[in-house]
Amino acid sequence: MGEIDITKYKNAILLKHPLITHKITQLRDKQTKTNQFRLMVKEVAILEGYEALRNLPMYNVEIETPIEKTVQPVVNRKRLCFVPILRAGLGMADGMAELVPGASFGHIGLYRDEVTHLPIEYYCKLPGNIDEKEVYVIDPMLATGGSAIGAVEILKKHGARQISFICIIAAPEGVKAFCEKYPEIPLYIGALDRGLNDRAYICPGLGDCGDRVFGTNK
Ligand code: PRP
Ligand code: URA
Repeated sequence: MGEIDITKYKNAILLKHPLITHKITQLRDKQTKTNQFRLMVKEVAILEGYEALRNLPMYNVEIETPIEKTVQPVVNRKRLCFVPILRAGLGMADGMAELVPGASFGHIGLYRDEVTHLPIEYYCKLPGNIDEKEVYVIDPMLATGGSAIGAVEILKKHGARQISFICIIAAPEGVKAFCEKYPEIPLYIGALDRGLNDRAYICPGLGDCGDRVFGTNK
């Protein structure tokens, strides 16, 4: 597809932190073994999550310091829901849980058909009051954008109203498809790559992320 001017999509946020970029380079390296790969996906999720969760809802609690009573803000974790797209999104879930212990999790199972590259849904379990939650969908790869768009459709069908999406590597094709379909949904991206190959894999990318997280590429 070639270069896109990402700035024309107001909801696309490219996270350019050197530590994120450094760890993504290690993820790309085919020498990186499964256990190291899994750890690194988690670490990138923490770094991206730290940036993406800047505007988390907060509320005040009364506490007592060694000096005096005071009213101070804490994160409203009950309003937060992370939704990994199975399988590869599970690799990011631990990182998010470490950032915000107590947040709830939903799960959406999608896999891409090898020929059409369209997502096929096989699982969905979401918290009951999803309409009251700030939902962050997590999936390392945004290739054609089909899975991301499919996951958002499922969430909207279940009543979710506040949705954001966090990925590690995106292709221009996926950014375009997602941002044109959902210009109101923040899309956080760790790295923007060159484009897709004829099998709809991201180039240079990191290969099949689910396989590398779970060691099914051997
Ligand atoms: C990968 C990835 C995304 C999807 C992205 O999952 O984790 O969900 O592909 O591609 P798209 O933007 O073209 O839809 P995959 O379908 O390989 O399933 P897996 O995680 O179970 O391996
Ligand atoms: N899914 C992956 O895991 N990798 C890609 O490059 C594209 C889709």
